[in-house]
Formats: sequence, C-alpha cells, structure tokens
Amino acid sequence: MIDGKRILFSGMQATGTLTLGNYLGALKNWVSLSDEYECFYSVVDLHSITVRQDPAELRKRARNLLTLYIAAGLDPKKNCIYYQSHVSGHAELAWILNCFTYMGELNRMTQFKDKIAKHSDNINAGLYTYPVLMAADILLYQADVVPVGRDQLQHLEITRDIAQRFNGVYGEVFTIPEPYVGKAGARIMSLQDPTKKMSKSDDNLNASIFLMDDRDAIIRKFKRAVTDSEAAVRYRDEQPGIKNLIEIYCACNGRTPEEAEKEFEGRGYGDFKLAVGESVADVLRPVQERFHELIRDKAYIDSVIKENGEKANYYAGKTLRKVQKKVGFPERIR
Ligand code: TYM
Repeated sequence: MIDGKRILFSGMQATGTLTLGNYLGALKNWVSLSDEYECFYSVVDLHSITVRQDPAELRKRARNLLTLYIAAGLDPKKNCIYYQSHVSGHAELAWILNCFTYMGELNRMTQFKDKIAKHSDNINAGLYTYPVLMAADILLYQADVVPVGRDQLQHLEITRDIAQRFNGVYGEVFTIPEPYVGKAGARIMSLQDPTKKMSKSDDNLNASIFLMDDRDAIIRKFKRAVTDSEAAVRYRDEQPGIKNLIEIYCACNGRTPEEAEKEFEGRGYGDFKLAVGESVADVLRPVQERFHELIRDKAYIDSVIKENGEKANYYAGKTLRKVQKKVGFPERIR
C-alpha cells in the first residue's frame, strides 16, 4: 500500500511500433485502473535488448512509448511513468531472484520457446531469464495487481511462484501479485491469420493495426481482414476471424458480443468490417493527436522522466534494501 492505495505495476517493450493488441489488451485498461491504484508504468528497455537493437532507434522508441503512455490518458503527476533502465534496482533484484528460480520452470515458458525459434542466431541467456526480470519489475514495487494481455499470464504465474518461494524462506517480504485481464481485448489476433496473436513483429503489414496508423490505413486493413464464407456475424470459435473482429469492436465501444451480433444480423461482412474500422479509428484518433502535441514538448517530457524516475527509485530502493538484508548482504556504512 502507498498512501492507503493498492499498488499496480505494468510495462511494455519499446521494440517495434505498438499495435492495437497492446492498446486494447493493456494500455486502455491501465487508464481505466489508474484512479483506483497507486500505479507504476514502466518502459521496459532492459527487456528490449534480449534481441538486437539499433541504439539510436531504441532510444527514440523508448521516448515515443513513454510519451504514448501519457497521450493514452495516464497523468504523470498521479502515475509513475518511467524507464526501467533508470532504476538499477530492477537488475539487482533480478539477480537475486535468479537464484530462486529453477531452470525447469524457465524451460516451460512458451514465450521463450517462440522467441528462440524466431531468433535462432542469438539465443542468449537474457532471453532465457527474461521472466525473472519481469518478476523483479513487479515485486520491486510490491504490486498487488498487474494488468496484462493474456499472453503474459504464464509470466505472472512464475512471478507468483518465485515470490511465494522467497517468502517461504524469509517471511512476508513480497506482496503476491494478481493478474488483471480485461473482459474484452485480452488477446487480439492477427487480421491475416486469426489463429496467431497480433504482434509488432509480424512481417505482413496488413496483419496488425499500428497505433499510429491513419484512418484510411485502418479501414483498408479491416476491409482486407481474413474472415470466412459463413456470411453471418456470429461470436463463435468456428469463425475465428469474425470472432476477433467482434472482440475488437466490443473492446472499442463497450458493447457485448451479443449486442454486436444483433446489430449486424442479416448484414454483410463489408458493412461490419467498415464499422469495426471506424470504431478503431475513432478510439485511436485522440491518442494520436495528443501524442503529436506532447512529443514536441521536450522540456515537459524531460521533467516527467526526471521526476518519475526519482519516485520509482525511491520505492524500488525500499524493497531492494529489505531483500538485501534478508538474504544476508552486509549493511552499508553511511
Ligand atoms: P509486450 O511489450 O509484448 O506487450 C505489452 C502489453 O500488451 C499486451 N499485448 C496484447 N494484448 C492483447 N492482444 C495482443 N495481441 C497483445 N499483444 C501484446 C501484453 O500482454 C502486454 O500486457 N514482458 C512484457 C513487458 C513486461 C511486463 C513487465 C508486463 C516487462 N515487465 C511486468 C507486466 C509486468 C512484454 O513483453 O509485453
């Protein structure tokens, strides 16, 4: 608890351009939860270097992402929006937690298996221990809740296991975090292959809606979305393309799948796809406008980075000192 409020932590990678999946699965929920909790939202640049990055590009993307958090509606006076690399406690705690994590557990991580298949030329230890760093992110702030898309649930489970194991040895050091997954949008699928999740790194540009896509591009991509020959807007597993579009539609305008089915009963896919494209464009437009305004205000963004970086370091330091003492590191002489 901080000032009587429960604590929330979440983060995103600054690799690639954010997709509609990142927005509907995570960022949108962050905004809706931000009044209720004391929130920490990190741009997780330490995680990004598990795959090769161009340094200038990574720096630029990290700044864009931090700005996008604000543009999406997170007030940096109330929410701690910061770079993971500015708080050394993440890496320090990750090391300690590495010593409380079994290789057998890490071997089971599906994201690791996917990543090594994709980056077979660079299977580094960072990719392998990625979930431990993620556990450190969360536990460092004693987070009660972690809003994520469904693809991150396995990492949340290992975080809880590591925390419980540590607490089992040293007493109640860490809060055990709960995942928060929104009702709609928790797993947005590719528009070209609805059996795959929508991803920043998809080679097919029509497969993903990017947060900065303009209205025409958004509508064009939805027009081309892969569907089926059933000619019925129904929310069911047998029609994965249409199901995904309904999911997106509902996440954008708060309707239920039943309401969407009723609205488009007897109407063609063309009408439906256009309506989905328009609701997505309407949701993204204000975020894009605000982003373009904010990114020009260098002094303001710099002040957010500085003030929130200090705040994050303060809370991270408190947990880290406690953990260091518990495991037996000598106290500092001041
Ligand atoms: P990342 O950067 O891949 O994704 C950021 C968030 O977006 C969600 N997401 C999706 N949700 C629905 N449909 C999709 N197609 C989709 N694609 C992505 C993700 O679930 C995530 O919530 N390891 C994390 C970043 C991270 C983190 C953390 C998250 C590092 N430390 C601590 C929470 C807490 C990652 O790579 O997310």
